[in-house]
Amino acid sequence: MAGATMRAVQYHGYGGGAAALKHVEIPVPSPKKDEVLLKVEAASINPVDWKIQKGMLRPFLPPKFPFIPVTDVAGEIVNVGSGVTSFKPGDKVLSLLAFGQGGGLAEYAVAPTSQTVERPPEVSAAEAAGLPIAATTALQSLKRGGAKFDGTGNPANVLITAASGGVGLYAVQLAKLANLHVTATCGARNIELVKSLGADEVLDYKTPEGASLKSPSGKKYDCVVHCAVGIGWSTFEPNLSPNGNVIDITPNFSAILNSAIKKLTFSKKQLVPLLAIPKKEDLKYLVELVKEGKLKTVIDSKYPLSKAEEAWAKSIEGHATGKIIVEM
Ligand SMILES: NC(=O)c1ccc[n+]([C@@H]2O[C@H](COP(=O)([O-])OP(=O)(O)OC[C@H]3O[C@@H](n4cnc5c(N)ncnc54)[C@H](OP(=O)(O)O)[C@@H]3O)[C@@H](O)[C@H]2O)c1
Repeated sequence: MAGATMRAVQYHGYGGGAAALKHVEIPVPSPKKDEVLLKVEAASINPVDWKIQKGMLRPFLPPKFPFIPVTDVAGEIVNVGSGVTSFKPGDKVLSLLAFGQGGGLAEYAVAPTSQTVERPPEVSAAEAAGLPIAATTALQSLKRGGAKFDGTGNPANVLITAASGGVGLYAVQLAKLANLHVTATCGARNIELVKSLGADEVLDYKTPEGASLKSPSGKKYDCVVHCAVGIGWSTFEPNLSPNGNVIDITPNFSAILNSAIKKLTFSKKQLVPLLAIPKKEDLKYLVELVKEGKLKTVIDSKYPLSKAEEAWAKSIEGHATGKIIVEM
């Protein structure tokens, strides 16, 4: 595709939110040795994408400007690097793009083969694009909290906060697949949806009972997958079983300090900050679950690339129900 150009969305510096996204026409990138070039069909936005734009991960990300954001994509391979033998042009795939490279809000993107998996025809591009960060985080959080997906686990009690969000809706479904009893928190408008995906009990987080996180049936939580922000340890602690863990996926400084103190004092109840680690086997497992109809990507909204800034603004607002998708 030498000399070809593509439409892409970039930002040129930190800050500015959706208004700082610029539509550009730039050269189509070339895949390096172990990369594939995708014609992107769909991309999904995660909060980390606009947190990077805000400068929350500076000086590491982005490594330079201008930067094409977004890492979670699904598409069709159109070219492969010289060392690639496992994929060929025409293959439908989903990928987690390299964080330092981004590139998802564009018609074409290069993806590392190490984070690219085949997409079965039963799984749409939008459904697949929702998976990489959000579903991987849900899966790894549950595993860190003790969930087993091979049928050998105990029927433990899990609390999932912000269960209506991108991570939370996958976490509810995955927790049921691991045979857990699920209590979930979300806003009133999403209670029926969260129940329909398997939650046993749902609390409206804007009510006093919801804010207390108390299980309506009196259960103590063995694990909390904490996808919301701004809930302190003193709220979790009385609701935990004696060995209960809180897996915090957005830990602030005080949570990290609290976690260290709990370790040093051999506390049985632990606070565990978790950063999801990209794993190809997790992506394969997750897309297979979608294919089998055991896991759903709930789509909040879809936008064309020409309206990517609206999708970006929607994610920043923090009120998505499931995944926000941009289609090329
Ligand atoms: N550590 C990691 O590896 C990792 C990976 C992925 C994400 N994260 C982080 O995890 C967090 C969640 O990500 P996400 O993609 O799920 O976000 P999201 O999709 O933007 O979450 C939005 C949802 O959260 C609900 N919500 C907000 N505050 C709530 C509260 N206090 N109680 C209950 N529900 C609440 C909202 O409901 P309403 O609209 O009703 O308010 C909305 O449905 C973000 O901070 C993200 O950066 C971390």
